[in-house]
Amino acid sequence: MAKSKSTAQRGARRAAAKPAPETGAVSRAALAGAADPLLVRFNASIDVDRRLYRHDVRASRAHARMLGARGIISAADAEAIDRGLAEVEKQIDRGEMEWNLDLEDIHTHVERALQKRIGGAAGRLHTARSRNDQVATDLKLYLTQEAVPRLSTSVRGLMKALVTKARAHEGALLPGYTHLQRAQPMLFAHHLLAYVESFSRDLGRLESARARADECPLGAGALAATPFPIDRERVARELGFGRVTRNSIDAVASRDAPLEMLSACAIAMVQLSRLAEELVLWSAAEFQFVELSDAYCTGSSIMPHKRNPDAAELARAKAGRVVGDLVSLLTTVKGLPLAYDKDLQEDKEPLFDAVDSTADAFDVMAGVVLTLRVRTDRMLAAVSDGFLFSTDLADWLVEAGVPFREAHRAVGALVQECLRTGRKPADLSEEELKALHPKFDESARARLDARDSLRRRDVVGGPAPSRVAAELSRWEKELNLVRRVKPRRPR
Ligand code: ARG
Repeated sequence: MAKSKSTAQRGARRAAAKPAPETGAVSRAALAGAADPLLVRFNASIDVDRRLYRHDVRASRAHARMLGARGIISAADAEAIDRGLAEVEKQIDRGEMEWNLDLEDIHTHVERALQKRIGGAAGRLHTARSRNDQVATDLKLYLTQEAVPRLSTSVRGLMKALVTKARAHEGALLPGYTHLQRAQPMLFAHHLLAYVESFSRDLGRLESARARADECPLGAGALAATPFPIDRERVARELGFGRVTRNSIDAVASRDAPLEMLSACAIAMVQLSRLAEELVLWSAAEFQFVELSDAYCTGSSIMPHKRNPDAAELARAKAGRVVGDLVSLLTTVKGLPLAYDKDLQEDKEPLFDAVDSTADAFDVMAGVVLTLRVRTDRMLAAVSDGFLFSTDLADWLVEAGVPFREAHRAVGALVQECLRTGRKPADLSEEELKALHPKFDESARARLDARDSLRRRDVVGGPAPSRVAAELSRWEKELNLVRRVKPRRPR
């Protein structure tokens, strides 16, 4: 067996020998002795949840004022608590809070700092509440008033960058792809607006998640509310919540609000990673459709010629990380009995990580997109691949009365003939065309033109230049990008 006693055994001995220190966790009232040092470290969430301090202080001030207004504590105590908490917040703002693992979490730190400032009255703040409804409240304040506004700004920032870039290259053509094979001629702007469209649904997901999270849990207590005559509506109103939660068990036990936020982040990131991947691909020598700005590339430590698209690659990778954050919390919550379980303390790390990573990734990608050099010459050269027009030729036959399946067969034979003889459709003579289908004549050749092909796709949602121009204007208005002509100041 091991020669020395395990840390746990030593900790247990120390615990038995020492009474609970006055400065220790407030919640050990019924426990004999101090906690094992390992447990103290394992149990503490302060390194993660201290960033909730502003929300925690705000919620506590609203709670104290309500307690005072309802006569549950004296007006003088409420006033002292309220002022003291404002000072505690400033103390943390200034970086003067001493963080201490013994005090577990942000709630205990704030209360202990208040006690140091105002003494005994601080002990009345926790009347009619529990850390369970307190942490649920902080979390919902964070979600609705910090996370969603920040994420929405970042997502909108990238949408603006995409619309700006699309407008700058409104007439540029590139091949559209399916299966990463050149498929049909496409407008570059239509391609970028596809991302704008999908990111706008991410905004919608964030907003609807915010709307569902917009309820104040304070007053749910540990799980069974409180016998004191509290005014939940007042606290909710003061904190800017739309309503109060309707079931005290659900209020402290549920974590679907952070789960929805994580899921919205994961979906947004997965979509972002597709844009990132396209930019990585397009900037490779094999495509050269774009050149990423040096400001968003790095060099290689060994190959002097390298320009690595790190920003886009990392945005792509962070998608995996954020999906992991979602799975982490889903797995934590799965199978937990109601109501609060300490497992739920593990909700904040993946949540903060996902929100930070998502906002950063969208911000960085907005910079990447805005500073991108678009090689319209290279994209146009790729469009000039004559096979992109096979569908247009088939459509020409259909307009001449041929059933689509028959037209498809004839153009298929045309493509085979071209491949066999190393030519492009435009190289075939009228006789050869007629041999492939008797309805073909010279005028079919006019269809071998990308702009003609696009002009004909004039349906709602289609890539006809006029449709795309209208969509660009719609998005410019929606995103407040409408260019105002600056009046020149006369000299
Ligand atoms: N730090 C805890 C958390 O984040 C606060 C709630 C603690 N509640 C409790 N009963 N121990 O979940």
